[in-house]
Amino acid sequence: MEKRLKRIEEDALNEIESARTGEELEAVRIKYMGRKGLFTDLLKSMKDLPEKERPAIGAKANEIKGKLAGLIEAKLKSLGKKGSAQEASIDVTMPGVEITRLGHKHPITQVINRVNEIFIGLGFKVKEGPEIENEYYNFEALNIPLEHPSRDVFDTFYIQDDILLRSQTSTVQIRVMEKEKPPLQVISSGRVYRPDAVDASHSFMFHQVEGFMVDKNIKFSDLKGTLSLFARQMFGKDTKIRFRPHFFPFTEPSAEVDVSCIMCAGKGCRVCRYKGWLEILGAGMINPKVFEAVGYNPEKWTGYAFGMGIERIAMLKYGINDIRLFFENDLRFLRQF
Ligand code: DAH
Repeated sequence: MEKRLKRIEEDALNEIESARTGEELEAVRIKYMGRKGLFTDLLKSMKDLPEKERPAIGAKANEIKGKLAGLIEAKLKSLGKKGSAQEASIDVTMPGVEITRLGHKHPITQVINRVNEIFIGLGFKVKEGPEIENEYYNFEALNIPLEHPSRDVFDTFYIQDDILLRSQTSTVQIRVMEKEKPPLQVISSGRVYRPDAVDASHSFMFHQVEGFMVDKNIKFSDLKGTLSLFARQMFGKDTKIRFRPHFFPFTEPSAEVDVSCIMCAGKGCRVCRYKGWLEILGAGMINPKVFEAVGYNPEKWTGYAFGMGIERIAMLKYGINDIRLFFENDLRFLRQF
């Protein structure tokens, strides 16, 4: 029995020594130490030994087994360290793992990009404005005086007395006009904030796109043409638009603009509440008071402006019924776009 053990040990040492790859080493390990390996055989045949010889042989066998396991381990490590791809188990000719789940842009970003693309095609330039603003840009310069009831609609979060989170992107009109001279064609998007209770169609933070044009002799028909072209590119070539009279402090006259329902093409369905129309934005001719605030001569310059909620557009475009989904970061939702 002892001789047999000795021979097994010697053979195993030789085979470990001459193994060149991780796979060969694994084969050696299985041959000797596997469930049906030579050591298992040997230990099983111990029952034929006289009772008093068994413990010594058993101990010896386990000792050798432990030593061999250690050697295999050490050799595996040294093979790995040499980084010998060919020698170890990496087949460099194997095709790579295909990456099937690349990240992509958030649906809100996708809609902003699409809106920008359409207006850039019409000669607009993309500008940015700050989310942290003061009362002047969010209200006064846009003809929303402190005591005027229209301020309620645009109420927001205050950081300090005069410092607030903008509640509309119309602030960018003032920021750009103060710095630049007409003619101007500007589009600007970003976050806005309002202290609204959160539900399926309200969020205390959402995104708007603001657009405006200033030049000589700009007419309401220019606004109509531009928005109608936008609606057709955004929602499909048969989309119609409709203007309803409305009030905004920074435009005069002002309108709310609807598109023919993109679900039922105006026939009436649940999405448009059987009206055939969906409201998508506010617009109008820039109020002379706004021009005065930025030092433009209202006798000389004319212009239009419009503003729309991005979430609303995205919800209509993709048939999403809850605004909260955009901000929960649930990948099962986001992966669909
Ligand atoms: N700022 C308005 C809002 O937040 C949207 C808007 C309406 C923007 C009319 C405009 C405009 O530029 O002319 O509800």
